[in-house]
Amino acid sequence: MSSLSKHIPLVDLVAQYYSIQSEMDDAISGVIHSGRFIGGEEVKKFAIKFAGFSNVPYCVPCANGTDSLEIALAALGIGKGDEVIIPAFSFVATLEAVCNIGATPVLCDIDPIRYTMDARNVEAVMTEKTKAIIPVHLYGQMADMHPLMLLAGVNNFYVIEDAAQAHGAEYNGQIAGSIGHMGSFSFYPGKNLGAYGDAGAITTNDEQLYNLAFKIANHGRTSKYDHEIVGRNSRMDSLQAAVLSVKLAHLREWNKRRFEIANRYIQLLEDIEQITVPVINDQSKSVYHLFVIRVPKSKRDDLMKYLAKHSIETGIHYPISLSKLKVTTEQLKIVTNCPQSEKASEEVVSLPMYPELTEAQQEYICNHIQDFFST
Ligand SMILES: Cc1ncc(COP(=O)(O)O)c(C=O)c1O
Repeated sequence: MSSLSKHIPLVDLVAQYYSIQSEMDDAISGVIHSGRFIGGEEVKKFAIKFAGFSNVPYCVPCANGTDSLEIALAALGIGKGDEVIIPAFSFVATLEAVCNIGATPVLCDIDPIRYTMDARNVEAVMTEKTKAIIPVHLYGQMADMHPLMLLAGVNNFYVIEDAAQAHGAEYNGQIAGSIGHMGSFSFYPGKNLGAYGDAGAITTNDEQLYNLAFKIANHGRTSKYDHEIVGRNSRMDSLQAAVLSVKLAHLREWNKRRFEIANRYIQLLEDIEQITVPVINDQSKSVYHLFVIRVPKSKRDDLMKYLAKHSIETGIHYPISLSKLKVTTEQLKIVTNCPQSEKASEEVVSLPMYPELTEAQQEYICNHIQDFFST
């Protein structure tokens, strides 16, 4: 491992910073010299650029991607007595947002190929109280949106895309966050588009929803001291907006690089019998926020330990499905079986994935995976 004597992390944000260091330093210093830290031109500029990138007319910058889900739900008028269907395999924030708005989360199982919400499973759990569904575009792969939008149209419920892991992902030529009534994004640092702290955003094609979401995120105000509704403080700060604007200009190139890395992983690993690699969908290309393989449950811990011993970091997204989290079973007392989500949580492993990952590092990783399965 002489030329690779360094630890290979799951995500390398420092390598990314070095690749854009001077533009980033200028942008950050520009904000500090402006003395304007909340709102202002930087935030407006980023919102316009991100709306353009997501192919929608409107973007509401928020403080993080959990707030953006909650604010989207609030703008749609969802609350107590309403049911919101979410996939049983996601980060807990999707569940929390529904609970924090006072609505009832209803879990549905995933499509085991995409790891995303399956319209047939939505049909199985929807009721007359269903007001919205939140498909999560997990790992960078968009959910199969067409049947979900049809189902929502026929049954009159809203669709909020949780696109926290899918900036720039496409589905039949449409961009993540532009298909549902509202899209929700997180710019948590490790995301494909990540801030240097917390940040999030809502995207929408609907002007009224935009105005309402904007108001909710900004203390319910229309102008400085004219507060019309009970809102909250969920502002994006100017430093994060400046960081995000710099990075947004590189996002397409970074997503392309992730795609190349994923293809290479697939080539190098697909012949290992005990591994299931992601399925490439030409109509709905993933932006590979994470590169996730599946291995037999009995081998997963040992594989991760073996790779760690060789300085390769791996992760599990997520080791417990939402259906089996204590918050669900013990606090919310929701009893549900989502076998595909539960099986996935026992078998998935995330390998290092970031645009700066080199071919040599990838070969090193895959050789070790090969060695593990051949002994
Ligand atoms: C699918 C999903 N939804 C929502 C969130 C919440 O975003 P944030 O951490 O910015 O609140 C995340 C973040 O990890 C996520 O992965």
